[in-house]
Amino acid sequence: MSVTAREIHLKSRPVGPASEENFELVERRLDGPREGQLLVRNLWMSVDPYMRGRMRDRKSYIAPFGLGEPLEGSAVGVVEASAAPGFEPGDRVAHFAGWRDYALIDATGAVKVDEGAAPLETYLGALGVPGLTAYVGLLRIGRPEPGNTVFVSAGSGAVGSIVCQLAREKGCRVVASAGSDIKTAWLRDEIGVDAAINYRSTDDLQAALASACPDGIDVYFDNVGGEQLDAALAAANDFARFALCGMIDQYNADAPPPGPRNIFQAAIKRLTLQGFLVTDHMSSMPEFAVDMTRRIAEGRIKSHATVVRGLDRAPGAFLGLFKGENIGKMLVDLR
Ligand SMILES: NC(=O)c1ccc[n+]([C@@H]2O[C@H](COP(=O)([O-])OP(=O)(O)OC[C@H]3O[C@@H](n4cnc5c(N)ncnc54)[C@H](OP(=O)(O)O)[C@@H]3O)[C@@H](O)[C@H]2O)c1
Repeated sequence: MSVTAREIHLKSRPVGPASEENFELVERRLDGPREGQLLVRNLWMSVDPYMRGRMRDRKSYIAPFGLGEPLEGSAVGVVEASAAPGFEPGDRVAHFAGWRDYALIDATGAVKVDEGAAPLETYLGALGVPGLTAYVGLLRIGRPEPGNTVFVSAGSGAVGSIVCQLAREKGCRVVASAGSDIKTAWLRDEIGVDAAINYRSTDDLQAALASACPDGIDVYFDNVGGEQLDAALAAANDFARFALCGMIDQYNADAPPPGPRNIFQAAIKRLTLQGFLVTDHMSSMPEFAVDMTRRIAEGRIKSHATVVRGLDRAPGAFLGLFKGENIGKMLVDLR
C-alpha cells in the first residue's frame, strides 16, 4: 500500500515569536507498512505551547525539531494498514506522529483508544496529556485540601480548565486568570470558578488577585510565570504550594526575562515551589484514564476544545496559542 502524505515541516527556526514562514507543507510518498509498523490516517492532531521550545536548537528535556523534517506531536487516527500483531485496520490509535495526514509509525508507539468511551479528540485533551498534566500537577504537586484557595493562571486553556474543575471538585475556592472578558465569563459560567481575573485589562494584577482571594492563596498552579507568578507570591499564604507547570509568558523570548522580583516571599512564607514534567508520570496514564473517563461520563468534568480545520491551518492554530485564541484544548481536525 502506498499513499501521498502531507506533512508540516519546520522550515526555519523562529527568532522571537514564531510565524507562518517558519513552517512548510510538504508532500511525500509513503510505502508500507513494514514489519512492526502501522500506516495511520490521522483524524485529529494537537498543537501545544511546549512545541515552541522544540523549535530552538538548544539542549532541553526534549530534543529539538529537525530543520526540514516533519514536526511531531500528539495525534489520534485510524489504522489503514497493519504489519504489527494486535492491530487491525480500523483500530483507532493515539500516537506521537502528528502534523501530517498520514503517518508510518512503529506499533510500539501507538495506544489503542476506545471511541465508544469518549469522542476521539478527547484523547488529546481531558483524557490525554493535558488532562494528565492537570491531574498530577494539581493533586500530587499542589496537594489541595477542601476549603483551600487555588489560583490557576491560563485558567481557560487545556490544562488550566481541567485544573479549575478538579480543584472545585476537591471543595476548594477556585480563582482563575485569563486574557479576555469572554474567557473570564466562560470560566465563571461554564467551569464554575468562584472568581476570574482578566489579566490584560487589569492595571494592578496584585491588587486584583488580593481582592479575589480575601483568604490568600494556598495553591498556585502556574501555567504562565512572569507577573502572574509575582502576584501569586505576594498573595500566597504561609506554607502554600506552587505547582510550576509552564511559563508561556517567556516561551517566545530569546533570553529568559529577569524575575520573579519578589522571590524572597518564598523564604518568609516557607513556600514549596515544585516544578514537574508530565513525562515523569506517564505510568499513571492507565489509572488516570479510568478515573477521568468516569468523571467525564458523570458530567463532573467538562471537556472543551477550540477546533481549527485542515492540516494547512495547523501552523495558525499553533501560533494562536500565543495570542490566546483558544478556549479549552486547541485542536486541528484533519478529517
Ligand atoms: N509541565 C508539563 O509537563 C506540562 C505539560 C503540558 C503543558 N504544560 C504547560 O502548561 C501551560 C498550559 O498549556 P496548555 O497546553 O494548556 O495551553 P493552553 O493554556 O490551552 O493555551 C495557551 C494559553 O496561554 C495563554 N497565554 C499565551 N501567551 C500568554 C502570555 N504571554 N501571558 C499569559 N498568558 C498567555 C493564552 O490564554 P489567555 O487568553 O489567557 O492569555 C492561551 O490560550 C503551558 O505553559 C504549557 O507549556 C506543561
